[in-house]
Amino acid sequence: MAQLPRVFSGVQPTGRLHLGNLLGAIKPWVRHQADRDNIFCVVDLHALTIPEAIDPAVLRRRSREVVATFLAAGIDPMRSRLFIQSHVRQHTELAWVLNCVTPLGWLERMTQFKSKSEGRGNVGTGLLDYPVLMAADILLYDTALVPVGDDQRQHIELTRDLALRFNHMFGDTFVVPKASIPEAGARVMGLDDPTVKMSKSLADERPSHAVFLDDTPKKVRKTIMRAVTDSGCTYDPETASPGVVNLMGILAAVTGRSVVDIAREFDGQGYGYLKGAVADAVAAELEPLQAEYARLMADEAALDAILDDSAARVRVIAEATMTRVRAAVGIG
Ligand code: TYM
Repeated sequence: MAQLPRVFSGVQPTGRLHLGNLLGAIKPWVRHQADRDNIFCVVDLHALTIPEAIDPAVLRRRSREVVATFLAAGIDPMRSRLFIQSHVRQHTELAWVLNCVTPLGWLERMTQFKSKSEGRGNVGTGLLDYPVLMAADILLYDTALVPVGDDQRQHIELTRDLALRFNHMFGDTFVVPKASIPEAGARVMGLDDPTVKMSKSLADERPSHAVFLDDTPKKVRKTIMRAVTDSGCTYDPETASPGVVNLMGILAAVTGRSVVDIAREFDGQGYGYLKGAVADAVAAELEPLQAEYARLMADEAALDAILDDSAARVRVIAEATMTRVRAAVGIG
């Protein structure tokens, strides 16, 4: 049997997960679970890059909640490995080695660094270094594909550049990975403002910005029915307003239908119909996920067993890579 392509991806345990996280990342992971060799990670070390937002007890709890969300969304621990980043020490070791070959200018140019550091007095070095730790996550596992939302594109480009640079300097050591970005759902926009990406940080301040994965059906409906559109009724994906395009994109990602097909169905009808259909589809998607999540969170020991088993299995791969890296650079 041909070897399945190795996949690695991760989610930060900062804040509650929202519809963008589900449609841009977790749902595509589940969709391709059978035809890929999967490793999924809760990147708690990345969450430390905004230290003022961290409450240690909350971070520990959220990491487990994200693991339970992966499982509830359909990640099968028999097919996929899922673990918490800080449980596998090789991530930080590789990040240090990669730091030493990363030109500072590459990090200063990153758009997420610029936007996250903007207007903040005390920016930690970890925030600047964030993409190097992310590259380490990916390169440790000989990853071929990184399934992520569109906002991570630049980080994957940097990972590729770093792998090529390291291979050039020290000989062939890393597999050069590629981003895998879904057709629908790659960029879910804010429901209160469809010109900005749906994000955890904005959702904290603005109640109508996002649908959270743990929202009640009533709250889901309320947020979606309030979504900003325009006053027309144009569904042509080329000319429709950003709010309408966003809602059609969400419906496409949830149902697996094409945007063109959805546009045809709603043509000539008011936006209330589209919003109603999106609300129904999202609520139906979240209901079984929430029930399964509650069941999983009630059995901490089972969750721990999955985490321990996965971490032990990925550590073997990570250590094999580090053995190569240490030999290549002359340490260890
Ligand atoms: P994070 O935690 O911000 O987001 C997790 C995943 O959700 C996707 N996403 C979205 N997709 C569509 N629309 C949106 N509005 C939206 N918001 C978020 C993200 O693209 C991501 O796929 N840097 C990463 C975490 C990370 C990582 C990695 C990912 C660390 N190491 C290695 C892949 C591989 C991040 O902050 O994701």
